[in-house]
Amino acid sequence: GERTVLRKFEHIEHCLKRNVQAHVSNGFEDVHLIHMSLPEIDKEEIDLSVEFLGRKFDYPIMITGMTGGTRKGEIAWKINRTLAQAAQELNIPFGVGSQRAMIEKPETWESYYVRDVAPDVFLVGNLGAPQFGKNARKRYGVKEVLYAIEKIEADAIAIHMNPLQESVQPEGDTTFAGVLEALAEIKSSIDYPVIAKETGAGVSREVAVKLEAIGIDAIDISGLGGTSWSGVEYYRAKDEIGKRLALRFWDWGIKTAISLAEVRYWTNLPIIASGGIRDGITMAKALAMGATLVGIALPVLKPAAKGDVKGVKKIILGYAEELRNAMFLVGAKSVVELRKVPLVITGFTREWLEQRINLSGFLSSRF
Ligand code: FNR
Repeated sequence: GERTVLRKFEHIEHCLKRNVQAHVSNGFEDVHLIHMSLPEIDKEEIDLSVEFLGRKFDYPIMITGMTGGTRKGEIAWKINRTLAQAAQELNIPFGVGSQRAMIEKPETWESYYVRDVAPDVFLVGNLGAPQFGKNARKRYGVKEVLYAIEKIEADAIAIHMNPLQESVQPEGDTTFAGVLEALAEIKSSIDYPVIAKETGAGVSREVAVKLEAIGIDAIDISGLGGTSWSGVEYYRAKDEIGKRLALRFWDWGIKTAISLAEVRYWTNLPIIASGGIRDGITMAKALAMGATLVGIALPVLKPAAKGDVKGVKKIILGYAEELRNAMFLVGAKSVVELRKVPLVITGFTREWLEQRINLSGFLSSRF
């Protein structure tokens, strides 16, 4: 318990103070929207709203889970409330970070509770896949999932898949045997939507197909090209071997643009595209490729740590303005229309996708 909380503290510190991003891109430089000289729409009439898991949101942008696990008044409490309030005011979904700390140290529950400042926000709880492995030290099940959701009055739960981070961390939980079966059991026992979520290494078509088969409601692909969890663990490593291991795997994973195409092509699940999304043009590309929402984490951490609700909103509204502009320049009045605009995929991303999907089939219908 104590160690889980301390670890969370260190993660936030490193993410605030050091470069923890991948050294490689997320692949969207290979995805091209095609400029339209006659958009045949007015920029004014563009509608950015989307539907996701039965709710309507004003922008197709989600703040994905980062933290929790401190006492009331301390850093994680402050970050979650700030992000939740911004999400409430923008009417976009928001996720808290791993609630494991709250299960191990129940007195930290208030650092995840945001309903007093965000009564209507679509709130997503968060637990980690390795805790559901059959060899986990204390295996979680339906009981822990319901506790995590209901104690903070969440609308859905995300189960994060983070084998990369756990594998390069000295005290890592690498008990992944039996997770899929546990998730199937949870899906058949609870009424809340379950989102399967990566944490920066991307979801492959093989994993996505399995998740869809057990009835998972949505996937947050969280691909390579943004925050690197091997990068974060590099700074925490205590010895030479640990440092070398984390450095070696810093850029491990499936790039976000590639993961998105694989999951879109092989499943019908709603997708949250995240991992290094840092501007509105990239957001337009991700939505055009078939994501329902894009997700961001690291870009809003700094203002959130200062309790700056306005700062968080400013970043997201800036992205939204760029997204709207890109939509104007391709003649798309809505996110649904954006999915029908032509795209060109070049370079590394094209070479990869030619071996993993029917690329021309994907480009001609992405919905
Ligand atoms: C995260 N992320 C994360 N994900 C998760 O499911 N549970 C968690 O507890 C955390 N914790 C966390 C802390 C911090 C400080 C960061 C920056 C990120 C992962 C996050 O939700 C997201 O999937 C990735 O960070 C990729 O998005 P960005 O950061 O590249 O926009």
